[in-house]
Parts: sequence; structure tokens; C-alpha cells
Amino acid sequence: MNIVIIQGSSRSDGNTHKVSSELQKLLNCDLIDLNKKEIGHFDYEYKNQDDDFPPLINKIANEYDILIFASPVYWYTMSGKMKVFFDRISDIIRIDKETGRKLRGKHMAALSCGYGSDAIEGFFIPFQKSAAYLGINYIGDIHTWVQSEELDHKVKTHIQKFAEKIQAIR
Ligand SMILES: Cc1cc2nc3c(=O)[nH]c(=O)nc-3n(C[C@H](O)[C@H](O)[C@H](O)COP(=O)(O)O)c2cc1C
Repeated sequence: MNIVIIQGSSRSDGNTHKVSSELQKLLNCDLIDLNKKEIGHFDYEYKNQDDDFPPLINKIANEYDILIFASPVYWYTMSGKMKVFFDRISDIIRIDKETGRKLRGKHMAALSCGYGSDAIEGFFIPFQKSAAYLGINYIGDIHTWVQSEELDHKVKTHIQKFAEKIQAIR
């Protein structure tokens, strides 16, 4: 099974990338950086179809089986970039249904990256519910944190266990 990490931080080489790249190394998988994409907000008139979202979601639907969403904690929830990406999934339910159907049966996991070690209550609910709505199997989630240059030993161990869980269904 092909795995992709979809990184939703507002900086490409920040803390979320630090933990995402640790996971990427263990899974030997691809990483898509939403910060490097031009993705407009959801538009009821679909006037944004020439931005980066349509080719990106097509690539994801066609090439990957396990999607790992990695978001920093911004104001107790997922980043704006990640939320815009999820809003745009509405495009493939409304106007590109063929791509929408391709998501069914895939697997999803989610990763949060904050400053503190405590997971944010309810952070993963939108991921779990969106997966259920889209017919995607939700594998699980992990909260991570970064407080210094070096990754905390505990965080590394959590990531290793999470990677093993994903490898088990690969
Ligand atoms: C706009 C913004 C909002 C944040 N809100 C929270 C928050 O609600 N709770 C929290 O624990 N940390 C919060 N933080 C801290 C970040 O979650 C933390 O520093 C994270 O590791 C940043 O990842 P990044 O480098 O990928 O952006 C916030 C940071 C920013 C920039």
C-alpha cells in the first residue's frame, strides 16, 4: 500500500515537519506540503478550479491508499491550510464525483503537533467524522509536541509505535 503524509503547517520546515519527517523516514513514504500549494477557499461557484487542488486530489485519489494528515495545533484545532483542504474535498463530492468515489476504502490517520505534551480535547473528531463520511477507514491518531531543536525521546517513541501500527495494515 502506498502511504502519503499530507502536511498542513504554515511553515514548510517547522515543528510539524520535524515530526512528519521522522514518521516519513520510518514509513519510507511520500510527503505533500500544503504550504507549497495554492489552494483557494471552498467556492460555491467553483471558480477556483484552476488552482492546485484538483490535480492534487486526483494524485492522492489515484496513487495512495493510506493518507496521514499532519497538522499543527493552531487555536485548539487544525491549521487553516488543513481546514481549507478539507473544505475543498466538497468539490469532489459535488462536481467531480468520480474522484470522490475513489477515496472510499482508503485508510486515514492523523497527527497533531503542538507545543505541549497534552493532546487537545476533540482535535481529532473532524478527521474521524470526515473519514466516516467519505467511507475511509480511520486507523488512528497521534499527538506530538516540539519544544526544542532535538525531538523529545518520548515523542520519538510515540512516533515509532504509530509507524508500527500503520506498517501493520500496509
Ligand atoms: C497561530 C498559532 C496558534 C497556536 N495555537 C496553539 C494552541 O491553541 N494550543 C497549543 O498548544 N499550541 C498552539 N500553538 C503552538 C503550535 O501548536 C506549536 O508551536 C506547533 O509545534 C507549531 O508547529 P509548526 O511549526 O508546524 O507551525 C499555536 C501556534 C500558532 C502559530
